Amino acid sequence: MDPRPIGVFDSGLGGLTALRELRRLMPEEKFVYFGDTGRLPYGEKTLAELRVMAVQNLRLMEQQGVKAILVACGTLSSNTPEILDGFPIPSFGVLRPSVRAMAEAPGDGALGILATAATIRSGAFERALRLACPGREIIPVPCPDLVPLIESGHCSPSDPLLRAAAERYTAALQGASAVLLGCTHYGIVEEALRCFLPAETLLVSAAACGAEAVREFLEAQGLRGAGRGEERYLVSGDPAAFEASASLLLGRSIAGHVRPVPVMRIVL
Ligand code: DGL
Repeated sequence: MDPRPIGVFDSGLGGLTALRELRRLMPEEKFVYFGDTGRLPYGEKTLAELRVMAVQNLRLMEQQGVKAILVACGTLSSNTPEILDGFPIPSFGVLRPSVRAMAEAPGDGALGILATAATIRSGAFERALRLACPGREIIPVPCPDLVPLIESGHCSPSDPLLRAAAERYTAALQGASAVLLGCTHYGIVEEALRCFLPAETLLVSAAACGAEAVREFLEAQGLRGAGRGEERYLVSGDPAAFEASASLLLGRSIAGHVRPVPVMRIVL
């Protein structure tokens, strides 16, 4: 038994899709969520910037006294795996569990990857999928417009701008057996993406895969908590805007649980 909280972070709202899943799997745990909205989108950052940000965010979580960290961000998971692996507190990204889930997906059609520009540029998901599924066609699709659309409130499946982007990004994936939502933000607009894919295409959520990996780890190590479940939120951008969007997304008010933190400077 370990009463310490679990740390979860992302550039903004996306990681809440992982937090939602973590809460469903482990309602008795405490969570500290960091939304780095003062520095999003991560998908447009350079590798050097992402390395600095990964270390800063992990340290911020460490200061919160967490027992494990879910880096609920495909961009950092794919660009900085060595930083996550080397951190003294057990830190999990979404890359490995997502690749495992994609490899286990039924069918032998292509495997699609929808992710941020920086994630696709890293090639990490593609390389890992090629290793796990030799001979399979892998189709990586960078989706630079999705995170800015989602963070500015274009989340409804009937939103014309979102629908146009969803149609464009799924065009190459019509024959895919499975498509990875390789950015945690994309779970928020899953319905819109689903509209433009064949019904039989399996959508794999990187956020849910990451959450399950953390649960497995805590279970195996005997580190599960046994409290009533609590959440705290740290936000580097506008806390009121985050509170409103997050409450909507989670389906309950998080008012009173959000604390602003300064935007951390990136010195290269
Ligand atoms: N949600 C993150 C990811 O999974 C970051 C997206 C962004 O800020 O560009 O990649």
